[in-house]
Amino acid sequence: MSLDKHVPEGFIIPDCASDRVEFWRPFWAARVSPWDLGRAHPEIAARRARLGSGGRAYVPGCGLGHDALGLAEAGYAVTAVDFCPELEPLVRPRLEARAIRFELRDALALTEGEHYDLWWDHTFLCALPRELRPDWARALGRALARGGLLAALVFPSGKPVEAGGPPFGLETADLVALLGDRARLLVDEDCLEPARPAGERFALFEILPEA
Ligand SMILES: C[S@@+](CC[C@H](N)C(=O)[O-])C[C@H]1O[C@@H](n2cnc3c(N)ncnc32)[C@H](O)[C@@H]1O
Repeated sequence: MSLDKHVPEGFIIPDCASDRVEFWRPFWAARVSPWDLGRAHPEIAARRARLGSGGRAYVPGCGLGHDALGLAEAGYAVTAVDFCPELEPLVRPRLEARAIRFELRDALALTEGEHYDLWWDHTFLCALPRELRPDWARALGRALARGGLLAALVFPSGKPVEAGGPPFGLETADLVALLGDRARLLVDEDCLEPARPAGERFALFEILPEA
């Protein structure tokens, strides 16, 4: 998948890196969101038994909040975060109507003592430039400092590094390398309920508490 093949004619993709909010603002201002499924990723329901419920879930780069709604339906107390101001009026009312917390901020900037039981990653890590992946891993380590689960839609799997992004190619092996010995890989499989024609896997990691 390449964004330029999925935007309407005349839409100009900003010429800046995708860790900058300026990259995302024109997309949400024009409501151009080719990544958006229009519903929670079906893997949330399909993996419900493995994901558990009843804890606190973190949804970084939440977009329109479909997955946040899906995780709330599965029983999680959800915090959904996105840094794009043009998105806020679209997502905040939807989520707050269902008692889901929405925060407009950098999802990699966690406050002291902010802990979760589940980090749900769906087209967030793959949206970040590759050089920011260690920052993502550090943020995840803090968010799950007491231990928890990382559930990741591994997408786009099979996309070569030289093809660029976003989305930047992502493999379960990349996650294993980023997470190191604090993580135990529990599941690495094709999606049970794929939402896209190709390139999607599901990975679940147990993150061990900080020593
Ligand atoms: C490709 S979209 C995916 C949205 C959503 N996860 C989905 O699957 O529909 C990436 C989203 O991440 C947000 N984003 C990118 N970097 C971010 C950051 N550092 N903090 C918060 N949000 C970020 C963008 O504003 C955008 O809404």
